[in-house]
Amino acid sequence: MKKILALALVAALIVCALAACGGKKAEAGDAAITTVNAGKLTISTSPDFPPYEMLDDEGNTVGIEMEIMALIAEKLGLELQIDEMDFDSALLAVQQGKSDMVVSGVTILEERKLVMDFTDSYTTAVQVIIVPEGSDVTLDNLGEHQIGTQRGTTGFLYCVDDYGEDHVTGYDTYTLVIQALLNGQVDCVVMDDAVAKEYVAANPGLTILETEYAVEDYAFGCTKGNKELVDGVNGALKELMDDGTVQSIISKYIAG
Ligand code: ARG
Repeated sequence: MKKILALALVAALIVCALAACGGKKAEAGDAAITTVNAGKLTISTSPDFPPYEMLDDEGNTVGIEMEIMALIAEKLGLELQIDEMDFDSALLAVQQGKSDMVVSGVTILEERKLVMDFTDSYTTAVQVIIVPEGSDVTLDNLGEHQIGTQRGTTGFLYCVDDYGEDHVTGYDTYTLVIQALLNGQVDCVVMDDAVAKEYVAANPGLTILETEYAVEDYAFGCTKGNKELVDGVNGALKELMDDGTVQSIISKYIAG
């Protein structure tokens, strides 16, 4: 009898230990997060945005935000599913219930808050101006020139606001934006600083102006009204920020 009791105790302990080791995952996920594909965290992204999201040689989407999302999904006990599309479509997917989150270097904007719920911000960025070397474009005379941007981005929205539609051309991807600059179809490009550095490094003859156009905060945009999702992601994100993981991922891709 004693032996049976002892065995039962051991069995109970093992069950406890198993439960406890899964405890952390269960904790973050136990609010029963509803997602568009059960058991998955489906994110929409535009992988033309190195070092935050870009395609590797095998065609996988990698980068700062993909590494962060992989860890967040793991903490929530969800499988990460990445859906690639252009930026405008990525913003739309989350509004149409096709993805749970848009993870695409998304800047927190009041007008976007009307259609999606933002998580906490995890980093800041600056809108900068890329020009061909030797160009006479400056921040002060920007409005006299033809500006290239990615459609739907803050660069596009700010420039249309400040200089009017006639001065701004929106392209689907940054690859096309940079191509237009190299071809002389636009005089300059407004885009996010870390990404601008990557494109300038890959395309000789381009340079970034010193003056900053706008400073902004990046976050992830979730389906509107899914409080469990926002809370769950925020909880996981906070852990990853508090223990230095987010910073070390960023530092791996962005020097300084
Ligand atoms: N931060 C800018 C915005 O929210 C640009 C984001 C573009 N992202 C991308 N993956 N192409 O509008």
